[in-house]
Order: sequence, then C-alpha cells, then structure tokens
Amino acid sequence: MDGLNGLLSRFSVGPKHLVEPGPTDEQLALMAAAALRAPDHAELVPYRFKLVRGTAREALAALFADAARAACKGEEGAAMDAERALRPPLTVAVVARIDLGHPQVPQHEQWAAVGGAISNFLMAAHLLGFGGKMLSGAKVRNPVIAAAFCEPGETLLGWIALGTPLRKPAGAARKPAPAQVLVDWPRPGD
Ligand SMILES: Cc1cc2nc3c(=O)[nH]c(=O)nc-3n(C[C@H](O)[C@H](O)[C@H](O)COP(=O)(O)O)c2cc1C
Repeated sequence: MDGLNGLLSRFSVGPKHLVEPGPTDEQLALMAAAALRAPDHAELVPYRFKLVRGTAREALAALFADAARAACKGEEGAAMDAERALRPPLTVAVVARIDLGHPQVPQHEQWAAVGGAISNFLMAAHLLGFGGKMLSGAKVRNPVIAAAFCEPGETLLGWIALGTPLRKPAGAARKPAPAQVLVDWPRPGD
C-alpha cells in the first residue's frame, strides 16, 4: 500500500472483529519505530506501549471483569468486558509519562506527542494489514487496573486492540470535509 493511500484509508476495527494472527515481534518493532517518528518536543518520549499477549490476556480479562463488577455491570457485563480482553490477539496498553515540571515542554505538548505516537502506531499496523482500535472508557480510571499498568507518575490512557481484521468498513468512512479544518489566517475581510 502506498503511504498516502494508506493514510487516507485507515479505519478503526473494534475487538470483536479482530482475529489471529496478531503482529510478530518484527512487525511490532516497526509499529514502535513509526510511533517514534511522531513529533516530540525535546524528544521526551512521554509514552510506553505495554504488550498484553498470550496468557497475559487472561489476567487482563480478570481485571476487566472485576472492574465491570465494581461498576455494577453484573455478571453479563463482566463476561462481555472479559471477552474484550480475550478476543484480540494483542492488546497494547498505552501509558503516558508526562513530566509536569519540565522547564521547556508544557504538558499539553507532551500529550500531543503521545497522540502522534498512537496515530503513527495505528497507521503502521494498518499499512502492515492489521486492524486496530484505540479504546479507553471508565476502566482506565479503575484504580486496580491503573495500578497494574502504571508506575508512579504514569497515566493509563487506554488500550489499542490489535489483530487481523475480519471485515473492511461497509462504506467510505464519514469524515469532515478537509475545508472544515483548513482555514486562512487572517480570515479574508478581517
Ligand atoms: C485516546 C482515545 C481514546 C478512545 N476511546 C474510545 C472508546 O473508549 N470507545 C470508542 O468507541 N472509541 C474510542 N476512541 C475513538 C476510536 O479509537 C476511533 O478513533 C473512532 O471510533 C473513530 O473511528 P476511526 O478511527 O475509524 O475514524 C478513542 C480514541 C482515542 C484517541
């Protein structure tokens, strides 16, 4: 897939539409290398991608199920949330490490670097033929789950579910017209 066509055709694929195989170690290294190409002021690399694969998915499923019970979703909700961890071949926890006292790079710039890294990671997955989706939800604020993934000073942003997509989107993704985000400055007439 050529680069620009790849960029223009990326779409998210949710966990229930992802099957084996997931990416190999070499493919994951390419995704991480793509993430590291994102703009990053002062090269702080304010993120980590934590890989949940193989039997570790069962531990994540147990955490998800307990979080669902704690959120009063009942046993049906717990089973559904556990399935979200078990179904994708790979789940990548995205953890931000924002240096709140950095003398040069304010926190919003560091978050922008995290966003760029996620985008490049997902884009590389798409170019390699994988599907994925960034997900968060109330689970990221569950203290047990956050503690399981984060070291002191880190924030759990969410998870990227990754695998081979079972389906392509039914139609062209609905996106705003480019003109919505391209604006001349100053506005004509000002
Ligand atoms: C940090 C972050 C967290 C997100 N969390 C969720 C989520 O919990 N649930 C959800 O449906 N979409 C979530 N999204 C949006 C999806 O990942 C996706 O971008 C959206 O469904 C649009 O689909 P598209 O990527 O195919 O355009 C999140 C996106 C980001 C960047």
